[in-house]
Amino acid sequence: MLDSYAVIGNPIAHSKSPLIHAEFARQTGQTMHYGALFAPQDGFEAVVKDFCQQGGKGMNVTVPFKLAAYQFASDLTARAQSAQAVNTLKFEADKILGDNTDGAGLVRDIEANLGISIAGKRILLMGAGGAARGVILPLLAQQPEMLAIANRTLHKAQALQQQFMASGKISSGTYMDFSGEDFDIIINATSSSLYNELPPLPAGIFSVSSLAYDMMYSAEPTPFLAFAKQQGAAHLADGVGMLVEQAAESFYLWRGIRPETISVIDKLKPNR
Ligand code: ATR
Repeated sequence: MLDSYAVIGNPIAHSKSPLIHAEFARQTGQTMHYGALFAPQDGFEAVVKDFCQQGGKGMNVTVPFKLAAYQFASDLTARAQSAQAVNTLKFEADKILGDNTDGAGLVRDIEANLGISIAGKRILLMGAGGAARGVILPLLAQQPEMLAIANRTLHKAQALQQQFMASGKISSGTYMDFSGEDFDIIINATSSSLYNELPPLPAGIFSVSSLAYDMMYSAEPTPFLAFAKQQGAAHLADGVGMLVEQAAESFYLWRGIRPETISVIDKLKPNR
């Protein structure tokens, strides 16, 4: 029987993960199958248990189930613990390991693919939900000069500052609080792009050498990337690279082999 993996989510029909993992398997000569599973909002556990009982080896977990997967796993990696969310499950004989590869994927895309070192940089992280929390520790591990967390709802940004302040220099505020400052790397970790909206960013936060990074992706530039371009940001990137890199990290956890990612990113995004 083929080793079997799947991504679980709701919705799931448009997920690119099956294509990405098929590419990784082909490239590394791994014999495996990777599918997509839909679960009803209240049906995550039932679908995962069923997949596991049928011999499934591991899963990727996407919206809206990352918290459910965090609660479901019997063991957690340190990065899943700090993210309080799981995007990768590995079924082992005596345990269900929960990991979170999102932050590692973001860091790898910025550093290895875009060629921008995070060390010593000033970072603005927009948003204070699950997506933001998942990338804070991996970003701080690269030793930026500082990390500012901006959110519409101030107390959520402050809570993240509290949670991570022992790991690096962090500040928090509303968007307007950062008016007049400029940043080297501005990351949109809000869900605003899903609604085709722009967070209330102050003008002037981009410098001529800034990277504007949207963790979401869409066929057209997101409102955030369009704004960053208009404000003169030098580098623009959407979340396709992060998507492929987090997948590579999951693949490595399951198969012990690190796939090559650039050709897969190019396939998904020929004009990047
Ligand atoms: P996720 O798991 O994707 O992070 P979430 O936990 O619901 O989802 O968090 C969504 C984030 O996007 C929050 O930081 C939210 O800001 P608030 O906490 O103020 O609600 C942010 N967000 C969503 N739409 C936004 C918009 N149009 N402008 C600014 N921030 C937005």
